[in-house]
Amino acid sequence: MKLAVVGSNGQLGTDMISSATARGYECCGVDVPDIDIASQASIAHFLDRHAPDVVINCAAYTAVDNCESDKDIAFKVNADGVANLARCCQNAECDIVHISTDYVFDGTKTTPYLESDETCPQSIYGASKLKGEVLLREQTDAWYIFRIAWLYGCNGSNFAKTIADVARRKAREGAALKVVDDQTGSPTYTREVCRQILAVIPLRRFGLYHCTAEGNCTWYDFARKICEANAISVQLEPCATGEFPRPAPRPAYSVLENAHLKNTGLQCMKHWETAYGDFLNESNSPPFAGGYVSE
Ligand SMILES: NC(=O)c1ccc[n+]([C@@H]2O[C@H](COP(=O)([O-])OP(=O)(O)OC[C@H]3O[C@@H](n4cnc5c(N)ncnc54)[C@H](OP(=O)(O)O)[C@@H]3O)[C@@H](O)[C@H]2O)c1
Repeated sequence: MKLAVVGSNGQLGTDMISSATARGYECCGVDVPDIDIASQASIAHFLDRHAPDVVINCAAYTAVDNCESDKDIAFKVNADGVANLARCCQNAECDIVHISTDYVFDGTKTTPYLESDETCPQSIYGASKLKGEVLLREQTDAWYIFRIAWLYGCNGSNFAKTIADVARRKAREGAALKVVDDQTGSPTYTREVCRQILAVIPLRRFGLYHCTAEGNCTWYDFARKICEANAISVQLEPCATGEFPRPAPRPAYSVLENAHLKNTGLQCMKHWETAYGDFLNESNSPPFAGGYVSE
């Protein structure tokens, strides 16, 4: 099976290439400027050249707050771009895996969201990603959508890396670090997502899958875990979302139940705390044992 990863320089795309290659897949990757999913011609050219069996779309316009002011770009990439990709995959007779988000939900539920739950995005980013899901299904039958959330990994910038850096600095300065404690989700490690997707695609069981780590926590809980695991003794203070106003609203509760994966016996996602331990072991920058705190 030959895989093509679109958005291969991004946080997830980078790990998708390395995970697939490590599992013996023939795999190629492409990103801007060599492809622009907003242009059907550039996709068709790429697929003609590489003739993959499966395209894994990790490309997206992911700047959640910027989407509020760059609405046109958000929909051009996250909605129309996905439709272009799906149409080209249908023409080229290859399967398409698309990555979506917990932000398609409004966060008003108090129990984990199922794949069958009604969507109601609160932000432009969420709305553009939902539109991408809808357009994808209209273009091809050979589709998978994996909704992920609270993503972190070794590449790119993310909460796990940023909090560790900021907490070390605050610890050095003797200052407290405030972290939001009224948003709940499931921190999800990139390599877990890759492992799960690579376990599903050989079976060609198409459909919509929630694909997040088991368990859930608030950003404050996650920050506590990060500091504990890296032996950073900083004073952490829980705070409300309102203390850090941002252009795009976030769902207060966006825990996803991996119901489809579980019901089909395909689930292999670990608990978020176990996966975070894997991240520390596998990370290029090894975990610190007290390092910055005593400097
Ligand atoms: N990060 C999260 O917490 C999170 C949570 C839920 C779902 N997701 C979804 O997971 C997927 C992967 O996210 P990620 O964090 O890996 O994103 P990322 O690091 O921003 O990677 C996205 C990649 O897509 C590229 N790209 C942007 N516009 C493109 C275009 N028009 N044509 C081709 N490539 C384009 C980006 O290039 P540039 O960097 O040069 O723009 C980047 O290399 C996305 O679908 C995202 O919506 C992410």
